[in-house]
Amino acid sequence: MSYQLKDKEYNYIINNIINNKDFLKIDSCRHHGITRLEHSLRVSYYSYKVSKFLKLDARQTARAGLLHDFFIDEQLNKKEKRLSAFYHPKKAVDNADTMFILTDKEKDIIYSHMFPLIPNHVPKYMESWVVSIVDKCVASYEFATSYSKTFLFKIQNALFILAFVAGKGF
Ligand SMILES: [Fe+2]
Ligand SMILES: [Fe+2]
Repeated sequence: MSYQLKDKEYNYIINNIINNKDFLKIDSCRHHGITRLEHSLRVSYYSYKVSKFLKLDARQTARAGLLHDFFIDEQLNKKEKRLSAFYHPKKAVDNADTMFILTDKEKDIIYSHMFPLIPNHVPKYMESWVVSIVDKCVASYEFATSYSKTFLFKIQNALFILAFVAGKGF
């Protein structure tokens, strides 16, 4: 699947990240009912647009937005996955810092994106606030669409079973 957007300026900014094979491993991680890469691109692009509108540093916002959930947790059990909500920002900073050259602002954007769930990771920059807020909006949308799809699927299954049972004359 190609995740290339039509925005040339944005594509240029994220080019070295989106073509990094280690970063692309997040495309195999489930995240809010989609892949972590899809989620990260959504957060990155909307944060980039908001930063542009607010005349902030859209470049750093786009890059750090894309890297904000750069962690692999496919081997973890359910409990560990739940706990990862609290430690994945630090993990993402470490992973991103190993692969790319990051500014202090980009590190802060990644590190603080789970505020206020992690109360001591208070965003230091406006760009960090943008990504943190956009991440919550995007995640809520993704949860809602994923949940409604599952709900619809269950209703369809129930109706199918009901029709089958009724057809058998039970
Ligand atoms: Fe996150
Ligand atoms: Fe996220």
